[in-house]
Amino acid sequence: MVRLPLGDHLVMFRTALQARRLVNESMEETPNSEPVKSPETSSSDKGSAAVKQQYITTKDKFHEFIDSGWQKEGVTRCDGDGSFAQLDREAPAEDAGEPPGKKIKLEGQAVDRKGKEDGKKARGQFKCRPHLKPHNYDIRLCPSVVQECAAKCFYGDKCKFFHDVAEYMSLKPADIGEHCHNYDTFGKCQYGITCRFAKAHTSESFKNLVNEELLKKNEGRLMVRNTLDKDLQRRLRKKQVSFKAAEAYLKTINKGTSQGASRKKTAEGQPLQCSNGDSSASVKQGSAATDGLAVESAAEKQTVVEDLRGSLGNSEERSPHMEPTDLNSNEKTQDIQKQSPTKTIGALTDVDLIKLRPCEKKQVDFCDKLYLAPLTTCGNLPFRRICKRFGADITCGEMAMCTNLLQGQSSEWALLKRHESEDFFGVQLEGCFPDTMTKCAELLNNNIEVDFVDINSGCPIDLVYKKGGGCGLMTRVNKFEQIVRGMESVLDVPLTVKIRTGVQDKVHVAHKLIPEMKNWGVSMITLHGRSREQRYTKLADWEYIDTCSKLACPIPFFGNGDILSYEDAIKARETGVSGIMLGRGALIKPWIFTEIKEHKHWDISSSERMDILKDFTRFGLEHWGSDTQGLEKTRTFLLEWLSFMCRYIPVGLLERVPQKINERPPYYMGRDYLETLMASQHVGDWIKISEMLLGPVPQNFSFLPKHKANAYK
Ligand SMILES: Cc1cc2nc3c(=O)[nH]c(=O)nc-3n(C[C@H](O)[C@H](O)[C@H](O)COP(=O)(O)O)c2cc1C
Ligand SMILES: [Zn+2]
Ligand SMILES: [Zn+2]
Repeated sequence: MVRLPLGDHLVMFRTALQARRLVNESMEETPNSEPVKSPETSSSDKGSAAVKQQYITTKDKFHEFIDSGWQKEGVTRCDGDGSFAQLDREAPAEDAGEPPGKKIKLEGQAVDRKGKEDGKKARGQFKCRPHLKPHNYDIRLCPSVVQECAAKCFYGDKCKFFHDVAEYMSLKPADIGEHCHNYDTFGKCQYGITCRFAKAHTSESFKNLVNEELLKKNEGRLMVRNTLDKDLQRRLRKKQVSFKAAEAYLKTINKGTSQGASRKKTAEGQPLQCSNGDSSASVKQGSAATDGLAVESAAEKQTVVEDLRGSLGNSEERSPHMEPTDLNSNEKTQDIQKQSPTKTIGALTDVDLIKLRPCEKKQVDFCDKLYLAPLTTCGNLPFRRICKRFGADITCGEMAMCTNLLQGQSSEWALLKRHESEDFFGVQLEGCFPDTMTKCAELLNNNIEVDFVDINSGCPIDLVYKKGGGCGLMTRVNKFEQIVRGMESVLDVPLTVKIRTGVQDKVHVAHKLIPEMKNWGVSMITLHGRSREQRYTKLADWEYIDTCSKLACPIPFFGNGDILSYEDAIKARETGVSGIMLGRGALIKPWIFTEIKEHKHWDISSSERMDILKDFTRFGLEHWGSDTQGLEKTRTFLLEWLSFMCRYIPVGLLERVPQKINERPPYYMGRDYLETLMASQHVGDWIKISEMLLGPVPQNFSFLPKHKANAYK
């Protein structure tokens, strides 16, 4: 097991695990599946990517080759500054720079050699690990000592951390490298002697060295924004934060006079223009309790209601912010087409009076942008930095649950963090009720810096869906409307919405919702062209995306699904969308943004790819910390990412470019050892890659990726 860090780290780590569970659940349809079984199958076989015949190999040969190279060379170490001098040694000497034909032969030799050496051994066991001193990965030095505080330890007699530096040093696991990225970048490493590259900045008497000049240069530089202020956290926990704007809006719902449909009205009742140029804003009259718009069919309605009841029945699942009355009163479902709401210009409401802010909303230009999809777990800040460098225009935080944010949970707030390179950044919220979502929007509006706030109404995860959130919102139209209008009324930045085609496979509802959403005040809509039921089993329906794009006009509309090449992107842009969003495409090859912008298929080399991973680990050590806890966290997120990256097939190996996202890679040999290693879909090999970058895993390390069968014990 990975050691469980203490305190905040523990919370964050648990959340990471939870998040991973959520993602795993959301991806049960195998977005990163095993390679096709039969290597002999021709590359033109349905479902298999067209890899040139000379690179194709068998599963056994593939793994034997990887293992033999590994056993021969052992684990190489990477310096903290990311230098990777020994990496070439990873490749069997005879393999380096050889033409592919010869490599295939060499691979055969490797099999013989290995067969003689140790016969069959369980995969994922590393016989040639460097000798591991029995270090204790759980030991923690007291923060007061790490920070070299003159003051006494905050915890006093109850402190469970080490205070004796010499004792701590004798137990601390070995350094990973000679250079500390944090020290080299900022002039000071806040992890002091607990840093796993501490030698780079520690005096003989264990003092933390500082490069004053560099430190000064970075003074006042705010690298990461949107951190949770301790005082705000305290006030949130004590429920002392006021939500004036949200409450004013919520009153209008409770009165049942306006359904909250009140924004942007002048005294004359004229809708005011906002960034989307929508002039058709309207006010609905009637009670919130009776104005539910639609679900597509009785069956669908039934499922939603049952799901919701089910979740209410389970007290453990019930969030403190749930509104039990919601179900009975508000899930009136009518056919969206039969009973469109009456559009009137309505009377002034409380919210109008409080908030007459015609065009104060920050104007944001969404048009023609490349949008990196919100990606739970994988779309962390270090990964987004990578994508920014390759040309992603818009980035978004991982989905955050509004109830957790309202409770001031550090781990949830961590999802809102924004790196200085993220110049067009939004956060994504999940929630099922107008009160929590509107309050949360107000909270974020007052406390963080974002360019937009997105509602995730496409989330398929059971946990979210069963409560009526995620794409459940698409069938609770009345609540959905209240949420959108409420959030919109309290935000100074645009509110965007991410949806799916619908819940059921054959029952599209997006086209019915989109015209409504325009009236509610959303500034941009993203459509993932698949239903909840479909998950990733079928290709996204771009024809439907095209149809919907026309309905969304003039609101910016993004299409999302299956883009893995610049050609896919061009085709997508030929529809009526104003921009495209990329999810797995960016995980499989983050340089896809460059490819799209430069209209090329980039035959990136394995060492260039390794450099990207190296940068990721640097960013990870900066973000999560360069002590053991941060380093292992970085490793975990690296492994999650590798589970996608291994699906990339180098351009030079393809019979037919581009690679398609629904085609599985056959077993193939790369042009060098590293390229082959990176093609492995085996978690043990991902761990090897992580060891090249972050040193050996702690003893008893375990990592459970999406596929349990792939788990490394
Ligand atoms: C690992 C992973 C995590 C995801 N997390 C989120 C999320 O937090 N919020 C969201 O709206 N969609 C999430 N999605 C869905 C993607 O944003 C995107 O809509 C979907 O993958 C389809 O796009 P693609 O075909 O380009 O991958 C996630 C997808 C993956 C693969
Ligand atoms: Zn202490
Ligand atoms: Zn350091």
